[in-house]
Amino acid sequence: MNSMKKVLVTGGAGFIGSHTVVELVAAGFEPIIIDNLCNSDISMLDGIEAITEKNIPFFNIDCTDLDAMMDLFQHHGPFLGVIHFAAFKAVGESVAKPLAYYHNNINSTRVVLECMAHFGVKNLVFSSSCTVYGQPKENPVSEKTAWMSASSPYGYTKQVCERMIADTSLGSNLSSVLLRYFNPIGAHPSGLIGELPLGVPENLIPYITQTAAGLRSHLTIFGSDYNTPDGTCIRDYIHVVDLAKAHVAALSWLEKQSPICEVFNLGSGNGNSVKEVIDTFQEVNNMPVNVVAGARRPGDVEQIFASADKAKEILNWGCELTLADALKDAWTWQLKLQE
Ligand code: NAD
Ligand code: WQD
Repeated sequence: MNSMKKVLVTGGAGFIGSHTVVELVAAGFEPIIIDNLCNSDISMLDGIEAITEKNIPFFNIDCTDLDAMMDLFQHHGPFLGVIHFAAFKAVGESVAKPLAYYHNNINSTRVVLECMAHFGVKNLVFSSSCTVYGQPKENPVSEKTAWMSASSPYGYTKQVCERMIADTSLGSNLSSVLLRYFNPIGAHPSGLIGELPLGVPENLIPYITQTAAGLRSHLTIFGSDYNTPDGTCIRDYIHVVDLAKAHVAALSWLEKQSPICEVFNLGSGNGNSVKEVIDTFQEVNNMPVNVVAGARRPGDVEQIFASADKAKEILNWGCELTLADALKDAWTWQLKLQE
């Protein structure tokens, strides 16, 4: 293995990590996955390997375990860089279990930074979130938009980790990119990898696909009285394959930089309402979804969508896939899950 192409992918068996591993292989990198499978299944590896036709090294390690991580860096490095996905990500759960979120998300990032410093690994790509912006005063939000106070422990862990990485970058050899994802959706068009929501989904798209599949009786629209054209909330939905490609672009860009810490929004730049998403899903898949109007969900922001101009200018990255593509692929994945 050419060591200078080796990339450590934490959380690589998860939703976004698995798609990124596929794109890393396509771009000639050699990903190594670590994941403790706390929110994923080992079968995701089969999907990745079927798409890439490569054996991808996998280690079942908890990223908060400093000794195990040091051992991995020692025996499987040197790495060109690390893409750090591993974290807990459910906003509602983070309110119920804040300490689990502070422990996992913050300690895993601290351990990754310590191992990188110890072994002189220079490049870090970090999964941040649009949640750091809270409810913005203006849309679209750019990287310069001020942060509002975090509306959940989960959101606060992303703010803390961004700050921890920025602080570590100062006066060190670290080069980092903080990627603020908007709403990642969809699945690989092959239907071989996708999102594995455990239990009742919190997010809109898995709820739609499970309702269409008859696993849920109905989808509740959380609020139809917002100050938006059709009264429902607006978000910026991004196809997970486009998102995955942004990680390759970020890593390739970092390879050529002197120590730096840069932040990029990753979104489509379009705002779509909940009703638009449901209508598009029904249209492209020719599948009805049983919908009822419900109350607002506490903590939801009314609308947020990205300016992704900076990623276009600097990383030469932009979305190639549409909302319709993502909803088609999400449905293919749902059908696959039920086989
Ligand atoms: P996911 O849960 O599908 O993937 C995360 C993976 O990390 C899982 O496979 C899980 O088993 C693993 N993991 C968690 N803690 C670990 C630990 N301590 N050690 C080893 N492995 C661990 O989530 P995802 O949607 O792929 O999200 C990836 C990253 O992107 C997360 O950091 C998340 O906060 C961030 N993000 C996600 C979204 C989204 O809507 N999906 C939006 C913005 C940001
Ligand atoms: C989207 C829209 C809901 C379910 C979350 C995190 C954010 C980021 C992305 C990680 C909202 C509405 C939903 C349902 C509905 N994740 N909805 N009925 O809340 O925008 O973002 O995921 O960093 O931090 O907060 O995504 O998919 O939950 O909701 O009407 O059953 O769909 O109200 O307007 P959200 P979501």
